[in-house]
Amino acid sequence: MSDTLILGIESSCDETAAAVVKNGREILSNEISSQIDIHTLYGGVVPEIASRKHIERIDRVIEAALQKTGVTLRDLDAIAVTYGPGLVGALLVGVAEAKAISFGSGIPLIGVHHIEGHICANYLADSELTPPFGCLVVSGGHTHLVSVKDYGEYEVLGRTQDDAAGEAFDKVARAIGLGYPGGPKIDQAAKEGDPSAIAFPRGRVDGSEYDFSFSGLKSAVLNYLNHAEMKGEEISVPDVAASFQEAVVDVLVTHAMHAAEEYRFTKFALAGGVAANSALRNRMEKACAKRGLTFYCPPPILCTDNAAMIAAAGYYEFLQGRFADASLNAVPNLPLGSR
Ligand code: KG4
Ligand code: ZN
Repeated sequence: MSDTLILGIESSCDETAAAVVKNGREILSNEISSQIDIHTLYGGVVPEIASRKHIERIDRVIEAALQKTGVTLRDLDAIAVTYGPGLVGALLVGVAEAKAISFGSGIPLIGVHHIEGHICANYLADSELTPPFGCLVVSGGHTHLVSVKDYGEYEVLGRTQDDAAGEAFDKVARAIGLGYPGGPKIDQAAKEGDPSAIAFPRGRVDGSEYDFSFSGLKSAVLNYLNHAEMKGEEISVPDVAASFQEAVVDVLVTHAMHAAEEYRFTKFALAGGVAANSALRNRMEKACAKRGLTFYCPPPILCTDNAAMIAAAGYYEFLQGRFADASLNAVPNLPLGSR
């Protein structure tokens, strides 16, 4: 069988990205134009600005992804684009662009679920990984504990009932003056702090073993900061960062390992922007080793938003013959597993 080349396009949040992936596993190019510097000025992603920047950059990013590989449009077997979930205006830029290229060139179009893309980043990082496996997807917008039953077949075992893990990192970072984006800054600051300095709560959701809740933890950090301010006490930013991070990591790893035991997974993977967190990677690796599970985690550049993961997910849709047509639209709250 000849090689399958897929162009991936991603624009669901604040990264404009395009990539070419061979046979769903081999990255030929992976272009990412981040808007972080612009949104940092506002302390978070401004949707209107994100859409405008995607429009300004998307052509150049796609051109660069093709040029770097020497692949031309004619060589492509399909164009895979994120159509949800995400910011509707941002998603629309990628979807409209992919539809236009597909219409103009006759290359088949594939719609990809963003979270499915995050999970498939693991296929790029380890070409031997095959389903079934358990996966913890932790990003700025989502916290999902997923059973990956087969390619393109998912069962969501648990999810956050309020804030996503990355959202909690971003909000706490802002409160302790570290700015945006919070995850990498807390990760860094925590290295100098004591994770047991402050006993922050481990969020539980009544009646659900696998669901998450991070809003109570966020409030506990804000209360701690307010009390310190009222009493005129100095806070230790590294200690707050380390103690907060410890509380998040503790809950994530406990739930993930509980699911691994209950569902008898033999492999467990991490995915999403928060999977770039050094403490989480470390703890998951140890917890998996203790239980004899093989642990998978993409390198940080494939954890945060990119288009190679979208092309990888698109490959398995391609093999199933699941193509989109010109009616493909952005779906901001697209659930995982829907077609
Ligand atoms: O997957 P992603 O790039 O975008 C979404 O799909 O949401 O995830 C972005 C999130 C942000 O909340 C960011 O703060 C968090 O991932 N993040 C991290 C780290 N790097 C990125 N959180 C904790 N530690 C990190 N090193
Ligand atoms: Zn993402």
